[in-house]
Amino acid sequence: MFLYLIVVAGLASLGLCATYGSIKDVPKLEWDFIIVGGGTAGSVLANRLTENPKFKVLVIEAGPTNENATASIIPGLGLTQLAMTRYDWNFTTVPQKGLNNRVVTLQRGHILGGTSSVNGMVYSRGASSDYDRFANVTGDPGWGWDALQQYIKKNEKFENPPDNHDIKGEFDPAVHSFTGKVPVTLPGFLNPAVDSATIQASKELGGDFAFNLDMNSGKPLGLAWEQNTAGHDGTRSSAATSYLDSQTRSRNNLHIVTDTRISRLLKTPGTKGLTIRTVEIPSPDSSDPVILTASKEVILSGGTIGTPHILLHSGIGDENDLKTLNVPTVLHNPSVGRNFSDHTVFVITFGIAPGSIDLGPWVNLLTDSALQANALDIWNKNRTGPYVQYTPTDHIAWTRLSKDSPTLAIGDPSSGPNAGHIELIFGANSGVYAAIMLFVAPASRGSVTIGSNNPFEDPLIDPAFYTAEFDLPAAREGVQKALNFSKAPVWQNVITGFVGPLANATTDAEVDDVIRNGSECGLHPVGTAAMSPKDASWGVVDPDLLVKHVSGLRIVDASIMPFIPSGHTQVPVYLIAERAADMIKNTWQ
Ligand SMILES: Cc1cc2nc3c(=O)[nH]c(=O)nc-3n(C[C@H](O)[C@H](O)[C@H](O)COP(=O)(O)OP(=O)(O)OC[C@H]3O[C@@H](n4cnc5c(N)ncnc54)[C@H](O)[C@@H]3O)c2cc1C
Ligand SMILES: *[C@@H]1O[C@H](CO)[C@@H](O)[C@H](O)[C@H]1NC(C)=O
Ligand SMILES: *[C@@H]1O[C@H](CO)[C@@H](O)[C@H](O)[C@H]1NC(C)=O
Ligand SMILES: *[C@@H]1O[C@H](CO)[C@@H](O)[C@H](O)[C@H]1NC(C)=O
Ligand SMILES: *[C@@H]1O[C@H](CO)[C@@H](O)[C@H](O)[C@H]1NC(C)=O
Ligand SMILES: *[C@@H]1O[C@H](CO)[C@@H](O)[C@H](O)[C@H]1NC(C)=O
Ligand SMILES: *[C@@H]1O[C@H](CO)[C@@H](O)[C@H](O)[C@H]1NC(C)=O
Ligand SMILES: *[C@@H]1O[C@H](CO)[C@@H](O)[C@H](O)[C@H]1NC(C)=O
Ligand SMILES: *[C@@H]1O[C@H](CO)[C@@H](O)[C@H](O)[C@H]1NC(C)=O
Repeated sequence: MFLYLIVVAGLASLGLCATYGSIKDVPKLEWDFIIVGGGTAGSVLANRLTENPKFKVLVIEAGPTNENATASIIPGLGLTQLAMTRYDWNFTTVPQKGLNNRVVTLQRGHILGGTSSVNGMVYSRGASSDYDRFANVTGDPGWGWDALQQYIKKNEKFENPPDNHDIKGEFDPAVHSFTGKVPVTLPGFLNPAVDSATIQASKELGGDFAFNLDMNSGKPLGLAWEQNTAGHDGTRSSAATSYLDSQTRSRNNLHIVTDTRISRLLKTPGTKGLTIRTVEIPSPDSSDPVILTASKEVILSGGTIGTPHILLHSGIGDENDLKTLNVPTVLHNPSVGRNFSDHTVFVITFGIAPGSIDLGPWVNLLTDSALQANALDIWNKNRTGPYVQYTPTDHIAWTRLSKDSPTLAIGDPSSGPNAGHIELIFGANSGVYAAIMLFVAPASRGSVTIGSNNPFEDPLIDPAFYTAEFDLPAAREGVQKALNFSKAPVWQNVITGFVGPLANATTDAEVDDVIRNGSECGLHPVGTAAMSPKDASWGVVDPDLLVKHVSGLRIVDASIMPFIPSGHTQVPVYLIAERAADMIKNTWQ
């Protein structure tokens, strides 16, 4: 056994075998920590915990490694080549009443790096009040914006864009970190005419669209340059590329097993009270599952869908629901899987008068395969060109409903006056000007439940989109805001008006129907294992992210957010994971 350990440690230190493709190949060590899910949060924890050479860490990831996933590496391939592949869990929702009974897809990364390896790469922190609300609702000031600045510093590594253009006036260096792990940059392949018209429209309109030098200062409102989780080298920055780089992977106290899915958590034998530090992995080649126990903690980082799915199959959830499925209840907690909260996305398109603006040679990139081949050639040659970006979008406006909006009289679900209700991501492609609208202040709450006691069956995902009274009228005002933007003088002879189904919608009821017909998941779900104050009667984890009424089990991922932020969710997840790593180190050092 001793010799075996030396051989394993030796190979690992050469970087040869710290990543395994099967549970059979994982050495039988005593793990201090087992991290379930090598996703966005899990990768951060794997890196930070193994900075302490005394901690032995095993990461168990259901999906394959990121290393050879070309569509994840090249930003421009991400939009079309990752969904519904082996890198996706392929989830769909239950029929959505608020979407005219449509079923919509809910993409989740099934790959090392998790959803950060497949996402839209927007670097957006949300509003400072999003975090201050976490602090208020949990009673832990450590979750507030000011307290989290140290983790922004550890996470972000701002770099020059791949085209080396002058970025003065496009961001505020004072609110960025240049020393963290995740490369972040500005758009690196601009469309000059469209960019200057968009900035000109902002100048002309002011108000909702007033220029904001940096959307990541804690005050996002206004129109700003987009920032992305991509590097100067023209590649995607994911949690795997940045926190599980080859140097980190060669640490001999870090072991990663991919293509391995845990089915359940188990009560740890021989412990007092309710202690859960044991995971069950169905064996690839025998009927007996592999059972592994961590000596310190199991950390669940399965994401907003995966985490409640695992908890429910482990008997942690609403006793009444579990009983009907013959899952023995281990801990009755009706908050597990509830309070699911997601944004919606709805694409608004405007016609462009032919010849009125120079759209450049790449305008049909999304549909023209010859252009795609050319873009790929350039990227392969020197990591520049249109494929350094996920989409041809360069600006984002974050806006609030007008103060006198009747919709606000219903109540304001946002975290405060500096947080947006409506996000509009602008860009031109295929001969149209698009405003990709995200409704980022939903009042609707949905759920993740299970439909059987088979852990390999997909969970039932019900986002309950547009079921709260506030949401649909708010989204409708968002459409009006996009229309207002299109009326700026600079667009006068350029934008011809809505194209697509909005073109024929005149009444509010018709606009609502078009929104219901066209909305999709915003892909930023949170809240299914929410944190709450230590003594609260609701919630799944305490502010230190330990599962209530259980020893040995922590949850670190997007599921713990008690409210949905007004921005995209990868940055909040990175900050949560960085802080969690410090908490765990402080507990066990
Ligand atoms: C298409 C798309 C575009 C997006 N665009 C943006 C964007 O532009 N900007 C932004 O900020 N955010 C974006 N997001 C959202 C953001 O990426 C996620 O909120 C964030 O990455 C979630 O991190 P997480 O750690 O909670 O979960 P994940 O990163 O999903 O990690 C969970 C991991 O657990 C693994 N897992 C689950 N169950 C098991 C099991 N039983 N056994 C073993 N492993 C398991 C999964 O395979 C996965 O790797 C987007 C998401 C999608 C899908
Ligand atoms: C990745 O690709 C390289 C080169 O083609 C190959 O040697 C390696 O085995 C691949 N790794 C995985 C995990 O597929
Ligand atoms: C998702 O669907 C693709 C295409 O059918 C398939 O190859 C892949 O294995 C599926 N993903 C999972 C996690 O089952
Ligand atoms: C947090 O609580 C303080 C004190 O009650 C309050 O002034 C502030 O507005 C709250 N902030 C948020 C974002 O909830
Ligand atoms: C949902 O969250 C709210 C706080 O926003 C809380 O009061 C409520 O109890 C939660 N519901 C469940 C089932 O956890
Ligand atoms: C990259 O290659 C393309 C295509 O050959 C070329 O036009 C471009 O100038 C190169 N860029 C740099 C920075 O070398
Ligand atoms: C659109 O612009 C008009 C005129 O400035 C303004 O009165 C209205 O409130 C705007 N609409 C929205 C939804 O912001
Ligand atoms: C809008 O209405 C016109 C006239 O009825 C019709 O020709 C056109 O197809 C409609 N467009 C859309 C997108 O529904
Ligand atoms: C919404 O979709 C339904 C079903 O396809 C269609 O009948 C209806 O006309 C659509 N509504 C609008 C306003 O486009």
